[in-house]
Amino acid sequence: MSRAKVAVLISGRGSNMEALVRAARDPACPFEVTLVLANKPDAGGLAIAAEAGIEALAVDQKPFGKDREAHERAIDAALRQRGIEVVALAGYMRILTPFLVEAWEGRMLNIHPSLLPAYPGLDTHGRALAAGEVEAGCTVHLVTAGVDEGPILGQARVPILPGDTEHRLAERVLEQEHRLYAATLAEFVRGL
Ligand code: GRF
Repeated sequence: MSRAKVAVLISGRGSNMEALVRAARDPACPFEVTLVLANKPDAGGLAIAAEAGIEALAVDQKPFGKDREAHERAIDAALRQRGIEVVALAGYMRILTPFLVEAWEGRMLNIHPSLLPAYPGLDTHGRALAAGEVEAGCTVHLVTAGVDEGPILGQARVPILPGDTEHRLAERVLEQEHRLYAATLAEFVRGL
């Protein structure tokens, strides 16, 4: 079986990336993570990836200044040089320009910590709690031009409990993110 080559794009601690790497250790998993790429050299997940024996690459956004497309062209070149087939955004905290979105259309997934279309953007748990929701969750979707708007590939629901804080809710949702992302990505690449 040839496994789909996946790059995971991160900006921070990379716990979702780690979950994908863990899932790919199973020989029956239809994808392998061959590159972890961050837009910041100090992203914690880079060291975790390197320790796991995966190429960990920082394409620092700083030297590109405000030219987000030039930064993305450098990212795209790195992905193509390595024969990447699918890109998984996992806590990649920079809004993409149409360049990268179009270059990877139908091949780029994102995980978002809400039940989209509810609560796109930042501070999802704080807003869900403030609105008195009884349920939160997470979504894996294809990336399109609108932020957090692409076709939904999978969701996991998490009840909001009495007395929940943002932190406690985020922890429980994160557990589900890890499970959902690996399962949804596997299903997605099987369908390619
Ligand atoms: C996750 O909650 C993800 O859904 C959101 O940012 C967080 C990243 O966490 N987009 P991690 O870096 O994967 O630990």
